[in-house]
Amino acid sequence: MQIKLDRTSKTPVYLQIKNQIRGMIYNGILTPGTQLPPERKLAQSLGINRSTVLTAYRELKADGLVDSHVGRGTVVLPVLSQVSEKYDSMEIPAFHQFFSLAAERTNDPLLNDLLRMANQQNTISFSAGISSLDTDPVECLEGIEKELREQPDHYALKHVPTGGLPSLRESITQLMRERGTGVKPEEIMVLSGSQQGIFLTAQAFLDLGDVVIVEEPSFFSALHVFQAAGARIIGVPVDEDGMKVDVLEQLLRRHHPKLIYTMPTYQNPSGVSMSLERRRRLLELAYREKILILEDDPYGELRYEGPRLPTLFELDSYGYVIYLSTFSKILFPGIRIGWMAAHQQIIHQMIMLKQINDLHANSISQWIVDRFLRKGGYHEHIQRLCKDYGEKRDLMAESLMAHPVEGLEWTKPLGGFYFWCRLPDNLPHMSLLVNAQENGVSYVPGTAFYTGGRGGSFIRLNFTYPSKEKIPLGVKRLTQAIEATARRAPIRFEGEFEEMLPIV
Ligand SMILES: Cc1ncc(COP(=O)(O)O)c(C=O)c1O
Repeated sequence: MQIKLDRTSKTPVYLQIKNQIRGMIYNGILTPGTQLPPERKLAQSLGINRSTVLTAYRELKADGLVDSHVGRGTVVLPVLSQVSEKYDSMEIPAFHQFFSLAAERTNDPLLNDLLRMANQQNTISFSAGISSLDTDPVECLEGIEKELREQPDHYALKHVPTGGLPSLRESITQLMRERGTGVKPEEIMVLSGSQQGIFLTAQAFLDLGDVVIVEEPSFFSALHVFQAAGARIIGVPVDEDGMKVDVLEQLLRRHHPKLIYTMPTYQNPSGVSMSLERRRRLLELAYREKILILEDDPYGELRYEGPRLPTLFELDSYGYVIYLSTFSKILFPGIRIGWMAAHQQIIHQMIMLKQINDLHANSISQWIVDRFLRKGGYHEHIQRLCKDYGEKRDLMAESLMAHPVEGLEWTKPLGGFYFWCRLPDNLPHMSLLVNAQENGVSYVPGTAFYTGGRGGSFIRLNFTYPSKEKIPLGVKRLTQAIEATARRAPIRFEGEFEEMLPIV
């Protein structure tokens, strides 16, 4: 019997011995009736105290795995449910054969890669879609431990209703009213991030083969959700006034979609907003053709210039719009709290679905957000964000102007998180990805925002996450990488590898 001790481990030595012997018994290496080495002998061979071995043996006995007899020492007992010997040489299963069709349709690692990349050292990340570390209102976390302890019934540590912590639902209702809508708390539900709202909407409305209209380009995680639902995704191009509703009108007749997914304000990734005229027209079309609209609005509050446009939800009089927003972009993404506003009947169904999904959003996070909203200072916080992000946006625009690249086109967004850039014609975009990575800068390639591998001539740059010091340097590295890519011969990718290249 071979026991190996790790003296640097935090696991006590007696437990290391016990766990290894237990493993050997369960794996059949120590068969019933085997005598364990006498305590003194094992202690000597391991260079430890006898009492340590004694404690390990005592625990094994308490677990019913060994017994000790005077004269016979410590003996292994039969394990009741040992796997039969005929399965001894089994191999791990071919898991892919077990996955459901929905799981097979969900195999794009992009989001996870982006989250990982945002934390990589030496790379300036323009790829993240997250808020800035400098403006995160960490002060809103002060005193939470004390307050949590002092809550008479510790309600923030318990389960809360699936629709959300009642006081947060009220606070969000208030926020929505300030944003110009007359919603009631029953028309609001709290989500574990607005991403969940997209997922629940797909679950609530989409059957296999149903058609969903999306903007082109569109938010990749929404595309992944609709793909996973087995929906047919039809894209409508976006121009400087948002979704081209004239094209939409033609497509509606042909495809009879079940749902229209749109980000009318500071769209991700293009940064454009839908004009008021088009918003009205979109609603008219939805009413005429009886199609629900999912309005995703994470960036609406982050306006750096230009007029504020009403949301579709505000303009809608008949309950055709399901509205999503989030605290990820204005508080912390890790807090994972978003919300949905919709007709009460829709909210009721969504609550049924969320119930079987995750029961409810994290209670402590809900309480923290509610506490933040009730303390006041939300509007000053938004103003602070808009000032800081507006400056970063200007800095990115100035940096792009300071390093002009022939054929590189972009426009300064009026709000939100992103610059959407068109690359010079015929630039080998996969090669750029590698060259940019080598130059220490990351972005999201346009292909992520389209279906079917299109979009290679675009890239998305985030300006809120990198610090003001890093933006000019990152832009310099990026423009150098673009120029180098245009000069050099394209990098050759072999078959499958081309598809799988990580987007670092
Ligand atoms: C358009 C859009 N919708 C939804 C989300 C997801 O937000 P949350 O963190 O609330 O899940 C994002 C995040 O990038 C987004 O850009």
